[in-house]
Amino acid sequence: MDKISIGSKPLLYPLPAVLVGSNVNGKPNYMTVAWSSIVNMAPPMVSVSIGHSRHTLKGIEENNTFSVNIPSTKQIAETDYCGIVTGAGDDKSALFESFYGKLKTAPMIKDCPMNMECKVNRTIDLGSHVLVIGEIIDILVDLDCTHNGIPDITKIDPMIFSFPQNDYFQVGKHIGKAFAAGKSIKK
Ligand SMILES: Cc1cc2nc3c(=O)[nH]c(=O)nc-3n(C[C@H](O)[C@H](O)[C@H](O)COP(=O)(O)O)c2cc1C
Repeated sequence: MDKISIGSKPLLYPLPAVLVGSNVNGKPNYMTVAWSSIVNMAPPMVSVSIGHSRHTLKGIEENNTFSVNIPSTKQIAETDYCGIVTGAGDDKSALFESFYGKLKTAPMIKDCPMNMECKVNRTIDLGSHVLVIGEIIDILVDLDCTHNGIPDITKIDPMIFSFPQNDYFQVGKHIGKAFAAGKSIKK
């Protein structure tokens, strides 16, 4: 198969579309983030990469806390809205019912099937974006999105973002078991 070079770009597949929340001047604000990942096992940590101009970053710096909320595909309009409108100009707090957990200052979205409350561990200024690494203090999941006490991806029904096409997708079909499929070629 021939390949073409498309140059140096920030591309990776698949990317989840999540809603990152923080309190800015005491008021919840949420922004859409595609650049997030789990980055440590013990203690559990998640990273979100946030542009310098984002209103949400102000709240993260103010409180040293933030939330990562996983919307379901049903929340496509709200999720996209939080990615095209800034809290610096428009109040996004009334868009969702917010609640607080152990940290008290990391607003979470009740309607999202899964919420993570995080305490900032460190931030790294990478240039255009600040990599915020947070320790996951707690995860809350809607009971009906769990199976045997653990989150079920098919029930959560998260959104996948594709850049640079700028399209949203849904999780596809199950294709095999991890830490097991490779055994077929293991000597
Ligand atoms: C699908 C999608 C993914 C996005 N991912 C990111 C991201 O990873 N990091 C970022 O800084 N901005 C990202 N944005 C842009 C911000 O969400 C957008 O600038 C938003 O208005 C910021 O809100 P705020 O100023 O209220 O914090 C994304 C937007 C969309 C629609």
